[in-house]
Amino acid sequence: MTVSALVGMQWGDEGKGKIVDILAGNADVVVRCQGGANAGHTVVLGQDVFALHLIPSGILRDDVVCVIGNGVVADPVRLSEELEGLRGRVKDVDGRFFLSDRAHMVMPWHKSLDALAEGKLGSSSIGTTKQGIGPTYIDKVKRSGIRWNQARDIDNFRKRFQTALADANAVIKLLGGDPMDERETEERVVDIVGKLRPYIADTVAMLHRFVREEKRVLLEGAQGTMLDVDFGTYPFVTSSNTTAGGCITGSGLPPTALRDVHGLLKAFTSRVGSGPFPTELDGREAELLRGTGANQWDEFGTTTGRPRRCGWLDLVVARHAARVNGVNRLHITKLDILSQFDELKVCTAYRIGGQETSDFPADSWSLEDCEPVYETLPGWKCDLPACKAVAELPEAAANYVNRIAQFLEMDVASVSYGPGREQTAF
Ligand code: IMP
Repeated sequence: MTVSALVGMQWGDEGKGKIVDILAGNADVVVRCQGGANAGHTVVLGQDVFALHLIPSGILRDDVVCVIGNGVVADPVRLSEELEGLRGRVKDVDGRFFLSDRAHMVMPWHKSLDALAEGKLGSSSIGTTKQGIGPTYIDKVKRSGIRWNQARDIDNFRKRFQTALADANAVIKLLGGDPMDERETEERVVDIVGKLRPYIADTVAMLHRFVREEKRVLLEGAQGTMLDVDFGTYPFVTSSNTTAGGCITGSGLPPTALRDVHGLLKAFTSRVGSGPFPTELDGREAELLRGTGANQWDEFGTTTGRPRRCGWLDLVVARHAARVNGVNRLHITKLDILSQFDELKVCTAYRIGGQETSDFPADSWSLEDCEPVYETLPGWKCDLPACKAVAELPEAAANYVNRIAQFLEMDVASVSYGPGREQTAF
């Protein structure tokens, strides 16, 4: 079996774009399985920077087939903009990009409802990306969503669209929002959806065929474990399963097909939006981790541009993620950012209400009063040299990597120390 999955082990933004791009070099097919345009994967190729939101990062490799799986909520407007932005910059996507007929559509009203719901929550808002992700998954689970297969018959699609928009406008009015212009919205969306119809496919059958043909399939997770609707810091999470299980239900491939689970762990922690973050820093240390925003890979949201909250590496989170995903290939990213510090801290346990635990608790509010138990490790205070193996790193940097591996009881598959493909040690 040649199916692997790649998942984030923190709150997203672990540098998945770069590692998917590297792994895609050994893949024939890359599949997005959950989430939607809330994701932002940055890939740097020489002077060219690509910010991908919906389309799998594998699109940057000429011969890779890219699939948006059934578990994704795909916004036609964002998708068509993204395809347009890639035109002329990557090999033609026709014939190598497919969109599941079972995937749900994010409609303009889902974005309005997202913003209105956040506004109502006020200071306890989740800090969503306002891409309509939650409301679209609500409709999916409520069994009232619109799937891409419905776009195959545009007349029927129009009918379904009109009913759904009328219902949504009623709710928008109730919530104090401005209802959408029905005619204009319908014409705009129908036009875009019509143009995307050639990409709609039965991707479940297609992926099974690829596996039978022994093609190498990479399931590209979005967000990260701590944003998983079951295993993350609920309710400050996204609305899908961002873990390896979501790669399975969101692609239609069976769990028995999965050979490797690549887990991505940034060498420190960041999160955007609200919610608990036990190892969060403020002041100068946070600024050093975040960067100034001058570089694409600084800690500012790819989708929203928001500055990310930053803090020390949390190994309680990492172990929780390793367990629920079954990670067997560990990739550490952005090690170079730690080169600025004299010493480094890693959190190995939490003290909550006088009790020490190294299991991640279900109760997000208990984390507000959690005291991280830190271990201090020496920094290396120099630029990391171009190297191909972990053993070639400066001693303190190799120690840092090895401490993570020891805590998680697994080997390290790669260490990334810069945004370029070549800035990676194996
Ligand atoms: P939503 O997915 O837009 O509903 O947002 C829910 C939470 O997940 C918010 O805290 C977002 O900031 C966060 N989130 C969603 N997508 C990403 C991502 O790709 N990276 C990091 N955080 C994300």
